[in-house]
Amino acid sequence: MKSKIKIFGPETKFYAAFLYFCRPAKTAGRFYMKIGNIDLGDKPLLLAPMEDVTDASFRFICKEFGADMMYTEFISSDGLIRDARKSLEKLVTYDYEAPIGIQIYGNIPEAMTDAAVMAEKAAEIAGGHGADLVDINFGCPVNKIARRGAGSGMMREPDKMVEITRRVVEAVKLPVTVKTRLGWDEDSKIIVELAERLQDAGIQALTIHGRTRCQMYTGEADWTLIGKVKENPRMRIPIIGNGDINSPEKAKEAFGRYGVDGIMIGRATYGHPWIFKEIRHYLDTGELLPQMCVRDRVELARRHLAKSIEIKGERVGILEMRRHLSCYFKGLPDFKETRLKLVTLNDPAELFRTLGEIAVRWGDGDAPEAGNIYGL
Ligand SMILES: Cc1cc2nc3c(=O)[nH]c(=O)nc-3n(C[C@H](O)[C@H](O)[C@H](O)COP(=O)(O)O)c2cc1C
Repeated sequence: MKSKIKIFGPETKFYAAFLYFCRPAKTAGRFYMKIGNIDLGDKPLLLAPMEDVTDASFRFICKEFGADMMYTEFISSDGLIRDARKSLEKLVTYDYEAPIGIQIYGNIPEAMTDAAVMAEKAAEIAGGHGADLVDINFGCPVNKIARRGAGSGMMREPDKMVEITRRVVEAVKLPVTVKTRLGWDEDSKIIVELAERLQDAGIQALTIHGRTRCQMYTGEADWTLIGKVKENPRMRIPIIGNGDINSPEKAKEAFGRYGVDGIMIGRATYGHPWIFKEIRHYLDTGELLPQMCVRDRVELARRHLAKSIEIKGERVGILEMRRHLSCYFKGLPDFKETRLKLVTLNDPAELFRTLGEIAVRWGDGDAPEAGNIYGL
């Protein structure tokens, strides 16, 4: 009997053409990741949103070192729709930060859709660049948020989580993405199924932190389930892996072993924002960059402080720099007294002078070959 399947019939040609257009984008032999129309290049490195850490001045610094995509600190949807000053201030982003996502959280569908619309109109409402995408936080583990059913609290109500996501996607034209965890606890690691449902709700990328809510930040991030999500043949949106990436080698392993499209780096950027450059260099060449010398770290701290004051004014700019300043000089011997100055001085001139003293006292003997490698 003759087969009814025509190998090169019109349907197969159509299907082949369909597959061709759906193939991952490729430039010069390299695949690159896209969220909607946002082209993030090959193996993008993203700065994790971190409350009280990744403000505009820190984002400025991370961008200089090559962060491919960044997010605002999370913004309460209730705060936004109440016009709370702190929430509105967080809507301000700058052109040089693009592409940037504005991240919102909450558990009331109407508040979340209204907040997403405000995030989409951030440039009109708050000035500045606005958002290139809206990210929903379903991962925050802190009690006051998760116990109220927002952030990772949503992992106990996946139907509601998916419903909120669907409504946010419908409410805005910008791409919507989600950042979440593996599940609520050890017995409810629902991420593989949840990822499909979030994709069906219309999100255009998913970031997964490889811990459950109950783990908070303890133990080690488990990337195997992130890898399972990526392996699922039904998944077609980019998957961004997150959790414990703190070295170029770990970053390379995350891409190679778990196949993620991008990686997101959080705590390892404290006092070490040049990690983006170190990782990119290692991925491109297989070589490790030398440590950043103290004089370069002083120059970096100066820039960061100046930007913080420029954006937030002298008083707040200095206060909010304290958590960063001493981190830049971790590990220096006999640093206690100087560290105290960095976290107590209120006068910008004195702070800049103290930074100069660090360069003189601890900068001697720095490996000269490290100078300028980081473009400072
Ligand atoms: C101080 C701090 C603040 C954070 N704030 C946020 C936030 O606003 N939004 C969010 O999605 N995750 C937040 N996170 C979680 C991080 O984005 C990231 O998922 C987590 O730190 C794991 O990544 P890491 O191991 O690279 O740090 C925060 C984490 C820390 C330590």
